[in-house]
Amino acid sequence: MILHEHLNVNEQGHLTIGGVDTVELAREFGTPAYILDETVIRKNCRTYRDAARRYFGEDALPLYASKALCFTEIYRLAAEEGMGIDCVSGGELYTAKKAGFPAERIYFHGNNKTDRDIADAMDMGVGTFVVDNREELAALSAEAVRRNVTQRILLRITPGIDPHTHRAVVTGNVDSKFGNAIVTGQAMAIVKEALAAPGIHLAGLHCHIGSQIFDIEPFADAADIMIRFIAAIKAECGYEIGELNLGGGLGVRYLDTDPAMDYADAIRQIASVVTGFCQANGIAMPRVILEPGRSLVAAAGITLYTVGSVKEIPNFRNYVSVDGGMPDNPRYALYQSRYTALIANRADAPKNYRATIAGRCCESGDLLGENMELQIPKRGDILAVLVTGAYNYSMASNYNRIPRPPVLLVKDGIARVAVRRETYEDLTARDIF
Ligand code: LLP
Repeated sequence: MILHEHLNVNEQGHLTIGGVDTVELAREFGTPAYILDETVIRKNCRTYRDAARRYFGEDALPLYASKALCFTEIYRLAAEEGMGIDCVSGGELYTAKKAGFPAERIYFHGNNKTDRDIADAMDMGVGTFVVDNREELAALSAEAVRRNVTQRILLRITPGIDPHTHRAVVTGNVDSKFGNAIVTGQAMAIVKEALAAPGIHLAGLHCHIGSQIFDIEPFADAADIMIRFIAAIKAECGYEIGELNLGGGLGVRYLDTDPAMDYADAIRQIASVVTGFCQANGIAMPRVILEPGRSLVAAAGITLYTVGSVKEIPNFRNYVSVDGGMPDNPRYALYQSRYTALIANRADAPKNYRATIAGRCCESGDLLGENMELQIPKRGDILAVLVTGAYNYSMASNYNRIPRPPVLLVKDGIARVAVRRETYEDLTARDIF
């Protein structure tokens, strides 16, 4: 096993994913290619769904935050696994619709929904809007009145938590483009506006404190603040908030040194504090919604590349260049996110080589990682970067006019194409000349 259960090495010394030989995948489908183990995604959905129901109650619903990885087939998987989804754009909504995802289980996010987004989502019958601000609330209310319907909403609230200091700090996160802060009074003001707005049903509140978080404490802090706010709404407006969306953000293991998180246990711990806070504040337990993205899909994915040049600069460092890079994975360039990589065709050899893995773009910042430990690489080797299922394909670009790789789903020893490789014709298809 390498980092995660579904990644292993076979007798030929090749890396396998879900029992499938990655070297053969590279041969058959070419590189770069994103490979996802479908079984892992389904298993993660079930873990969330079962734990949410068990610890929060039968009506609890996990949503798949589809910004993490979005293509038509993944919405079909999410629907089959009984998930709701979080969509953040007209494009995500359109893709979910194509997959036949049940609209009532869609939560529509975003801090700047356009009038067109609002109209399209209402045409689709999107179940719940997560309203970010007053302007959106007014526009949505007007549209609902025009259509003579009542639209269910949550309001996005900023609890003021900094997940990295472990503390509920009143300034942390208040300075955000998202949501309405409790400490400034803006949260209570928008609650009152929503209660008074025609065509609007205020079903509940939403918060999201951050991403790649391993501690439970910041979630507990956020839940505490949100439940006290629900109690304050009850006291001030006589209105009982029925639904609380606690957002996403649980962490994923990218490196040996990262902890392996038990998501069911994390949900159990969060549920136990939520139940306690509700009792302490004299409010009924709301229906709880969770919104994981990364922890459902990241570990399921790897990216395969072919090694080109291996350049050793004496007294400096070794550069291993591959046939992809920041266009398929911008996360090192953007956030210095660290990954585990290995030579897939010699996965059983010792990792006694240190290198910077470079992409093929004309830009020196186009790196997939620095100080990476690898087997000794040579031109033609297959390099695998692990745990690339989240925020890689969904953040990919065509920088340098490089076509996006395909997305392959592996299940029961068979690989199928979920998104085909882009072609040069695709790249010029929208050019008018
Ligand atoms: N809900 C809301 C409102 C969010 O904004 C996000 C992520 C999620 C749920 C899902 O969070 P997750 O469970 O995936 O941590 N591009 C960055 C990550 C940005 C996360 C944005 N919001 C990255 O590559 O690390």
